[in-house]
Amino acid sequence: MVTQGRALRGAALAAALILGVSACGSSDSGGGGGASTAPTALEGVGPITLVTGKDTSGNLQNQVDGWNTEHPDQKVTVIELPEDADAQRQQMVQNAQTKSDAYTVLNLDVVWTAEFAANQWVAQLPETEFPLDKLLPATVETGKYFKKLYAVPTTSDGGLLYYRKDLLDAAGAKPPTTWAEMNAACDKVIAANPGLSCYAGQFEKYEGLTVNFSEAVNSAGGDVVGDDGKPNVNTEKAKAGLDFLVDGVKSGKIAAKARTFKEEEGRRAFQAGELIFHRQWPYQYAKANAADGSSTVAGKFAVAPLPGLDGPGSSTLGGHNYAISSFAKNKKTALDFIKYMVDEKQQRANLEKTSLAPTWASLYDEPALVEKFPYLTELKKSIEKAKKRPAVVKYQEVSSAIQEAAYSAMSGQATSADALAALQTKLESLTKG
Ligand code: GLC
Repeated sequence: MVTQGRALRGAALAAALILGVSACGSSDSGGGGGASTAPTALEGVGPITLVTGKDTSGNLQNQVDGWNTEHPDQKVTVIELPEDADAQRQQMVQNAQTKSDAYTVLNLDVVWTAEFAANQWVAQLPETEFPLDKLLPATVETGKYFKKLYAVPTTSDGGLLYYRKDLLDAAGAKPPTTWAEMNAACDKVIAANPGLSCYAGQFEKYEGLTVNFSEAVNSAGGDVVGDDGKPNVNTEKAKAGLDFLVDGVKSGKIAAKARTFKEEEGRRAFQAGELIFHRQWPYQYAKANAADGSSTVAGKFAVAPLPGLDGPGSSTLGGHNYAISSFAKNKKTALDFIKYMVDEKQQRANLEKTSLAPTWASLYDEPALVEKFPYLTELKKSIEKAKKRPAVVKYQEVSSAIQEAAYSAMSGQATSADALAALQTKLESLTKG
């Protein structure tokens, strides 16, 4: 029987070993594509760039302006890439492959650390320069590769269930802890409000679908990659998870339109009042509560842990870490800028303005912040026990295979059982590489 509580660090490392990481890379000399042995000297002071996915939170430039005012000779220029995580990675990879110095600080998704570190596209970082002991340990792990630090977590992420409290209250329904309760609540609400959609997440075929599929599988007690590091997705439990998504599409609980949602399309639908339930990251909280008229649901929603098959579900660990390109100039400025961004002061201000999940642990326990963002207590727990996606160099191939399986089942091209059997085979073949 698979237990969700087991430590996943070992699993991630085992998966790394199976899925194509050279174990000798981290400590032996002689190359082979492994991580470097000693930290690169982080030298050079002057202007730098910060490359990041589109800042949907709206506060990044403000933070950077604060730095620029204090450091007129070391200005940071923000380069924004697309909203879609896969498109961001593609541009960062292309830039690294040409050894371009155009990007200095890279805002890496937590799932890219292994690939960027193993290829030596980012510099190893000195742990003592950062307040790592003040950060949530699960987030620090995501910045490491073979126990060495390559990226510093500046924001975390955990999936939350946003729900229309006003509509549930009116229908006499409680926030659900299971998928069945969620569906029953939808039936009640929709009876009084025809035209509303029950549930949406990130179902477009990209990294967001990998997250939503993994959460569904984990929330049914299954695994994508088992604790022993081996793919283990062709199971009844994984099928129950995928069936939640497939049945949602078939029954119309997941509207056809939601199959094209990434984070921002879903947020707009939620804010327009079209959805009863929405699986989304914390950043939506501030936006959906904006009192400037941009959200029709301000003050009408609340947030709960993700539901699951038999009880509360399990979130996938998201988030972003800052790394320094191996090919960039002015690495000392980059180091100092990362220290500025990870500091409690910036993280506090960022939480207050954007509701992005901080990595600074104590912010989750401050009464004034918890009052303003009531989900913080649950979010901290959810981040602490969140499931990691495999920490592997070939992560993108693993993720593409997962996306393909979820997409083919949700679009009715394959049964859940066939999609999972094919995924298992594909993941096993990736492990041979
Ligand atoms: C969020 C998460 C990130 C995840 C992405 C998927 O940005 O922080 O980890 O990969 O969403 O869309």
